[in-house]
Amino acid sequence: DKGNHRHFMAKEIFEQPEVIGHTLANYVNPVDETLRLPKLPIDLATVPHITIIACGTASYAGLVAKYWFERFARISVEVDIASEFRYREAALPAGGLAIFISQSGETADTLAALRYCKAHGQTILSIVNVAESSIARDSDVIMRTHAGPEIGVASTKAFTCQLVALAALAIGTGLARGTIDAADEPRLVRTLLETPRHVAEMLSRDSEIHALAGEIAKVRDVLYLGRGHFFPIALEGALKLKEISYIHAEGYAAGELKHGPIALVDENVPVIVIAPVDALYEKTISNMQEVIARGGKVVLISDREGLDRAGDQVWAKIEMPKVDPLIAPIIAAIPVQLLAYHAAVAKGTDVDQPRNLAKSVTVE
Ligand code: F6R
Repeated sequence: DKGNHRHFMAKEIFEQPEVIGHTLANYVNPVDETLRLPKLPIDLATVPHITIIACGTASYAGLVAKYWFERFARISVEVDIASEFRYREAALPAGGLAIFISQSGETADTLAALRYCKAHGQTILSIVNVAESSIARDSDVIMRTHAGPEIGVASTKAFTCQLVALAALAIGTGLARGTIDAADEPRLVRTLLETPRHVAEMLSRDSEIHALAGEIAKVRDVLYLGRGHFFPIALEGALKLKEISYIHAEGYAAGELKHGPIALVDENVPVIVIAPVDALYEKTISNMQEVIARGGKVVLISDREGLDRAGDQVWAKIEMPKVDPLIAPIIAAIPVQLLAYHAAVAKGTDVDQPRNLAKSVTVE
């Protein structure tokens, strides 16, 4: 049932405040403002290394989590896509933690990578949406996302639910290791609990994004740029656009622009820059200026202050609410989903069933 929406994808995008709330409810206690994480067979305080493995959009959730684990828990983290990981004979430290992220719980490459990690002495923690699934069954610990059934082939609500579960886990790891002060736990929990409200606020800007998507639908190529924890959101924005609108798109770390992709920039290639005000804002904005100087059309996704500071040479602006940096990548995922959705609808593609794609990839 699509409710009032034309497509499952739209319904699922707009369900996000609710399902993120459901997912969070499993991992935080709002009354005493503490985390509530599943018991692990290993001690997070001493675990030597974390390996995160997934495919596609789920792998981008893993990439965001890498930034969180490193910042909050000061632990070394490796992220890889399952199809590469499973054959590259990875050397894993004894007693490490391996995290698998999958909406369906059935992705063949992810499951094979899980079995490799299991055979190499890793504790297996999976973040899955489908509880009755192969990946869930083969794991030592499961953290379920409570996104509900995701019908649209393009993953949206599962992604943001994966992100909040991973954020809770990263903070819990930091508390266990003492790299986060115990006194900060209530504030961090409150910040997580603000996510649904800010996602709803972001969704209320749908009509502006819809209008802009009409322009994006006319182009052949789009670049997405982000730094730090917005780099994976740039990758996700590009994947979402290409898979449902068939517009060629690439996500890049903003600092990589001058190492090649800037050669593509002209007035026909919109560049979507994700840069709320934070410690890296100025760096990303200077990359944005390089694009503008070469005649590129920039769509800037930022908060009010960031949009104002960026000046008036920006072609289009999408305003994000001002949020704590902890949850900023989750909020930034929403406008790139909406942009892809409306661009695809404008092009008249089959949004929920894009060509050549299956919801669950059970062959390698
Ligand atoms: C993109 C998308 C895919 C999946 C990937 C992993 O929108 O949906 O990239 O994220 O196939 O699928 P799961 O999460 O089921 O393992």
